[in-house]
Amino acid sequence: MRDLLPDKAERLRYIEQAARETAYLHGYREIITPIVEHYELLAAKVGEENRKRMFIFEDLGGRKVALRPEFTASVARLMATKLVADPKPLRLFSVGSLYRYDEPQFGRYREFWQANYELFGSNKPESDAEILILTDNLLNEIGLENYQLKIGHVGIIKGILTEEHFSEDKQNSIMQLLDKKEWETALNYLQQEGCTQKCLDTLQKIFNIKSKDPISTINEITEVTSDYTIALRAIENLAEILNLLEFENFHAKLLLDAGFARGLEYYTGIIFEMYVPEMEIALGGGGRYDKLIMLFSGDMIPAVGVAPGIDRLVLALEDQGKIPQVVRKHRILIIPVNREMIKPSFQVASLLRDAGLVVEVEAMGRSVSKALSDANRRGITHTLILGPREMADNTIVMRQMAERVQETVKVKNLIKLLKQPKQ
Ligand code: HAM
Repeated sequence: MRDLLPDKAERLRYIEQAARETAYLHGYREIITPIVEHYELLAAKVGEENRKRMFIFEDLGGRKVALRPEFTASVARLMATKLVADPKPLRLFSVGSLYRYDEPQFGRYREFWQANYELFGSNKPESDAEILILTDNLLNEIGLENYQLKIGHVGIIKGILTEEHFSEDKQNSIMQLLDKKEWETALNYLQQEGCTQKCLDTLQKIFNIKSKDPISTINEITEVTSDYTIALRAIENLAEILNLLEFENFHAKLLLDAGFARGLEYYTGIIFEMYVPEMEIALGGGGRYDKLIMLFSGDMIPAVGVAPGIDRLVLALEDQGKIPQVVRKHRILIIPVNREMIKPSFQVASLLRDAGLVVEVEAMGRSVSKALSDANRRGITHTLILGPREMADNTIVMRQMAERVQETVKVKNLIKLLKQPKQ
C-alpha cells in the first residue's frame, strides 16, 4: 500500500470534494460504513476474481472478517436492515478507501479510493439515466475531457443463456471469462457444456458488436437476438435508457458494447465503465443490481449505482494536464525576533487566520535572516517580522518576498493590505 505525500493527498482530496459536491447537487446523502465487515457479506456476489483478492482475517472474537473491496455490499446491508422502511427512492453517497490484493501497477493499488453513489427503490430507466448523468456531471465538473462511457447490459448475454437453460453459476463463470475478454475460452466452455450451435453463433456475433452509434447498434443487437425474448427485453431497456441521455448538456461519448461484462456478479441490467483515450484502465464503473438486497433481507429492492475511482481520476487529469493548482494567494510566515515575541506572534497569526489567511509562525527558533532564507525556499509570499519596538507601537514589519521590499505597517491594517489583490 502507498503513502500519499502532500501533493498526491491534496489531489485526491480535491476529487473527493468534487464528488461530495456532485452528491449534494443530486440529492445523495452521505453515509459512513466500517472498513471491516463480515467476510460472508462482502463475498456475496462480488465475483470470483474479487473474492480471491480480499484481505481476509479472523478477529479476536473468532469472526471471519475482511477489509471492504467495494462499498456496494455495505450500503446494500444497510438498505436491507436499518433503511429498509425508509421512503424510496433513497439516494446514498459514500467515499473512502477500499482494499483489494491486486498486483500493484499503474493505476492499480491495494489500497485505493472510490466515491460511490447508489439509488435504491426504482427499476425505471430514468433511475439508470440519473446515475449516468451524475457520472457525466462529475467528470465534466473536474475538467476531464474526451471521456467515454462504455455501456452494455448483462440481460443480453444472460438472457440468451437463461433461455438455453444454463444455471446461474454457469452464467456467472461465462461472465467472468468475458470480463477478462476471454471470448474464445467462453465459447469453448459453452460448447463443452452442450450449448446449441444457434446459441454459439448468436454469442459470437454479439461479442463483435461495438459501436459509437447507439441507435444502429441497438438495431443490430435486436436483429441478432431476435429468437431470444429475454434478451430482447434487455435491449429494449437499454434503448430506453440511452434515449434519455440524448440532450444537449450530456457530454460523455457513448460506446455501446454488446459483449461487455463486469467482474461483479450482482448486476442484472445496464452496466458501464468510464474511460479516457490516454488510459487503458477504467476510471469507474457501475450498473443495475436488482437482486442483491433480496439476498440479505428477502425484500425486492431494485438498485443502480456507480463508483468513480478517485486515484484513477487523478491520474487521468494529470495525463490531460488538467490538475488544478491549489492556488493560495498568500502564504504568510510570522518571524518573532526573540523568544518573548513568540506569544504575540501567535496572537497576530490567529487574527489573520480568522480573516481566512494562511499563516505559519516560525517554529525552529531560527534567527530572522535564517528564517527569511527558509521562507524564500518554501514559497512563502509574505513574512511578518515582530520585534519589541513594533509591538509597542502596534505595528509589524511586512516583507513581500518576491519583490524584496518591506515596510512597517499597523497591525490593524494588515488584513486589508494582505487581502488586496496583487497589482
Ligand atoms: P469496480 O469496477 O470494481 O466497481 O470499481 C470501480 C472503480 O474503482 C474502477 O473503475 C477503478 O477506477 C477503481 N478501482 C478498482 N480497483 C482498483 C485498484 N486496485 N486500484 C485503483 N483503483 C481501483 C465497483 O466497485 C462497484 N461497487 C461499482 C458499483 C456501485 N456498482 C453499482 N454500484
